[in-house]
Amino acid sequence: MTPNIIWITGGSSGIGFATAKHYLKNNWIVVISSSNIKKLKTAKEKLQDQPNFKNLYIAKCDITNQDEVKKTILFIENEIGAINTALLNAAAYSPNKSQEFDIENYELLIDVNLKGTLYCINILKDLMKNRGSTIAIVSSPIGYRGWPTSGAYGMTKAAQLNLAESLFFDFKKIGIAIKVINPGFIDTEATRLNSFKMPFLKSAEFAAEKIYKGLVFKKRFEIYFPFIIVFIVKLLRILPYRIYFYLWKKIGNF
Ligand SMILES: NC(=O)c1ccc[n+]([C@@H]2O[C@H](COP(=O)([O-])OP(=O)(O)OC[C@H]3O[C@@H](n4cnc5c(N)ncnc54)[C@H](OP(=O)(O)O)[C@@H]3O)[C@@H](O)[C@H]2O)c1
Repeated sequence: MTPNIIWITGGSSGIGFATAKHYLKNNWIVVISSSNIKKLKTAKEKLQDQPNFKNLYIAKCDITNQDEVKKTILFIENEIGAINTALLNAAAYSPNKSQEFDIENYELLIDVNLKGTLYCINILKDLMKNRGSTIAIVSSPIGYRGWPTSGAYGMTKAAQLNLAESLFFDFKKIGIAIKVINPGFIDTEATRLNSFKMPFLKSAEFAAEKIYKGLVFKKRFEIYFPFIIVFIVKLLRILPYRIYFYLWKKIGNF
């Protein structure tokens, strides 16, 4: 039987890289892409001892560039095979320590996290329809509600979440399953930029296993982990503003 194919954007590091390794181990054909070919080559070298290494492909694809997105997807479809799962994981992250309003940072995060994700979906939707495929968007629990110092990143993650919920209905009609992945704090290059102690911090390998099990064996729309921290954030979502703002004042004088 021909193995299934997964395309992982932002597969050169962190959660995307660990998930690629996990899928390879489970005999999938894995295509990882990112905007930086050097990082991709290094990622490939790191995986060369994996048993199914021959099933790994790398493709440079800056998701903010519509032409590159189209070329990459067509390369996979024409040269490797039909994509069963697209894991739209690539994102930019820059913590805002001082609550400054930095318009360039907003623009960057909108370009990568939002427009980039939309460019991928725009090409995938016609190719993937009616063949039992899945598009999984990696969002974040920070998208449930506005957090202090997270205006730019949080806004893009909230938009991704809302987009996934909406497309869940629309893409059902064209036979594409939409899923959303909401990880808690995961130890990656991105979160190493944080200056605060991250509660319930887990490894990228932990995230990869949850993503694999969630996408391959479960039918749920949302895959989230670790349970406890995301559950707490889910509870914050339903609090009235008065209590929500009060809690943040108590936590960090925001
Ligand atoms: N780590 C966490 O605690 C956490 C929690 C919740 C959600 N998430 C989400 O999980 C996903 C992965 O994050 P991570 O923590 O693993 O971060 P990471 O290690 O920084 O990985 C981000 C990936 O995105 C790629 N990327 C950045 N800009 C790109 C662009 N323009 N085009 C294509 N690829 C691009 C990066 O590669 P290049 O630099 O080579 O392009 C890298 O491979 C993100 O969507 C993030 O929002 C993470």
